Amino acid sequence: MPVALIVGASRGIGLALARQYRADGWDVIGSHRGQDGRQRLQALGARVLELDVRDAGACAAFAAELEGQRLELAVINAGVYGPRTASLKEPPDAAQFDRVMHTNVLAAMRLAPIVAPLLAPARGTLAFVSSRMGSIAGAGGSNGALYRASKAALNMVARLAHLEYAGHGVRVLALHPGWVRTDMGGPGAEVDADESAAGMRRVIGDAATFPAGGFFDFRGQPLAW
Ligand SMILES: NC(=O)c1ccc[n+]([C@@H]2O[C@H](COP(=O)([O-])OP(=O)(O)OC[C@H]3O[C@@H](n4cnc5c(N)ncnc54)[C@H](OP(=O)(O)O)[C@@H]3O)[C@@H](O)[C@H]2O)c1
Repeated sequence: MPVALIVGASRGIGLALARQYRADGWDVIGSHRGQDGRQRLQALGARVLELDVRDAGACAAFAAELEGQRLELAVINAGVYGPRTASLKEPPDAAQFDRVMHTNVLAAMRLAPIVAPLLAPARGTLAFVSSRMGSIAGAGGSNGALYRASKAALNMVARLAHLEYAGHGVRVLALHPGWVRTDMGGPGAEVDADESAAGMRRVIGDAATFPAGGFFDFRGQPLAW
């Protein structure tokens, strides 16, 4: 049975991915923080691990729990948007900056070297859930400036992870899930979490069409970095 690790699986897109991989017969390890997330994942028959990705000690404990675990897939999905008002005219304060950057960027830098060796034996996929808002080439305005800066930085982490781990057989992707109706995306977003997850699963599952080192949306469209 293939094994998928989903970091940030308690709700929204991560939970939809966990549900769909379980329904497809995968063994799923989902990370959560609170009790609600744990219960939702256990109800799916997923294995659970507690992790606050901002906590370095918790990441080290997470690495120890996963030691020796073979993985076909790891999805680094946990993320926060931060202040909706952040723009170049209204810069974030230091605490807001640290929260968003630590969650969206530092955590990915900590987790990549933990999961890549576990993916290598199966020549698995390491997928970072990024955003088209992280595209520098596609930037259309400075709204959501802190989130945009964090996802641009995450995209660089994904590119560097590709350079670092492709030689070990790990396929690294950066994915845009669409504008999704979740707590983050809000009720007016374009697609629901199940459609987003199904699209990303299609991209993840088709290495011939969506090669290592790429940045794709959930419909399989390549995005400019
Ligand atoms: N929704 C959209 O339209 C959209 C668009 C582009 C990209 N994305 C990206 O897609 C990913 C998932 O977003 P979503 O819409 O599903 O958001 P969401 O509903 O707000 O869920 C966010 C997930 O991240 C987890 N998380 C946040 N901070 C964490 C931390 N410090 N440690 C561990 N887990 C943490 C949450 O866990 P808790 O339940 O414990 O808080 C939750 O599982 C994010 O990376 C987001 O940037 C979303």
